[in-house]
Amino acid sequence: MGKPKTKEPSGRDKRRRINAAGFDQVYKIGLWGRDAVANDGFFSGPGSVGAAAAAYVQALVAEFSDQPGLAAVDLGCGDFRVGSRIRSLFDGYIACDVAPSLIERNNGKYADLDVDFRALDITSDPLPAANVALCRQVLQHLSNADIRFFLRNLRKTSYRWLVLTEEHPAGDFVPNQDSTTGPNTRLHLEPPSGVVLTEPPFDLRPVDSKVLLEHPVPGVGIIRTTLHRLTSE
Ligand SMILES: C[S@@+](CC[C@H](N)C(=O)[O-])C[C@H]1O[C@@H](n2cnc3c(N)ncnc32)[C@H](O)[C@@H]1O
Repeated sequence: MGKPKTKEPSGRDKRRRINAAGFDQVYKIGLWGRDAVANDGFFSGPGSVGAAAAAYVQALVAEFSDQPGLAAVDLGCGDFRVGSRIRSLFDGYIACDVAPSLIERNNGKYADLDVDFRALDITSDPLPAANVALCRQVLQHLSNADIRFFLRNLRKTSYRWLVLTEEHPAGDFVPNQDSTTGPNTRLHLEPPSGVVLTEPPFDLRPVDSKVLLEHPVPGVGIIRTTLHRLTSE
C-alpha cells in the first residue's frame, strides 16, 4: 500500500496563503509606519491619516449621508482609521482584510462599532454581499494578475456601487503597468503608473462613473476616488 496522498493546495489556496503572510509581515514590522500610541506596526500608511483621509471622509459623507439603509463592505480595510470615520454612514458594515493579525486587532480595538471584521482575500475568497463596496488604496498593491482575480470575483457580486481609491501619478500616465503584489505601488515604477480598472488589460464596464475626489500628494501624485455605478437599478 502506498503512502496516502496529501492534497496539493489549489492556486487559490496558495495565493491566499502568500498574500496573507506578505501583508501580515508588513504590519508586523510596521513597514508603512507605526501606531504611536500602541507602539505597534498596525498602521496602513500616510494615506490613512491627515488631510487625505479627512477629504475622503468628507466626500463619502456628501455622497451617502442622505441615502439611509445601505450596507457597505470595505475590501482591504487596513488599520480601520478611515473605516471607523465612515462606519456610521451605513446600516451594516463588513470590513475585510487579507492580514489575519490585523483583523484580530481590529476586532478588539473597534468592538464598539458593530463591524463584522473578516480575514478574507479579495482575489481568492467570495466577496460578502452589500450595496456599496469600498476599496481604498488596495488594488495599487496588487499585481495585474491579482487584480484580474479580484475583477472575476467582483463580477459574481451585485454591488450597486464600487467606491475605488487609487494613487495615481500627477498628469498623464500609462495606466496598469504591471507590478508585484506587495507593499509598494506603481508610483515606484519608472515611469510611474497607477491602476485604472476601465483601461486594458482590465475590463470593468460601469453603468457610469464619477470622480468624487482628487487629493494631491505633493511630489508624489494624487489620490483619486471614483464612484463606479455597477448596476442600473
Ligand atoms: C494601504 S492599505 C489601505 C487600508 C485602508 N483601505 C485605508 O485606506 O486606510 C492596503 C490594505 O489592503 C490589504 N490587502 C492587500 N491585498 C489584499 C487582498 N488580496 N485581500 C484583502 N485585503 C488586501 C492590505 O493588507 C492592507 O491592509
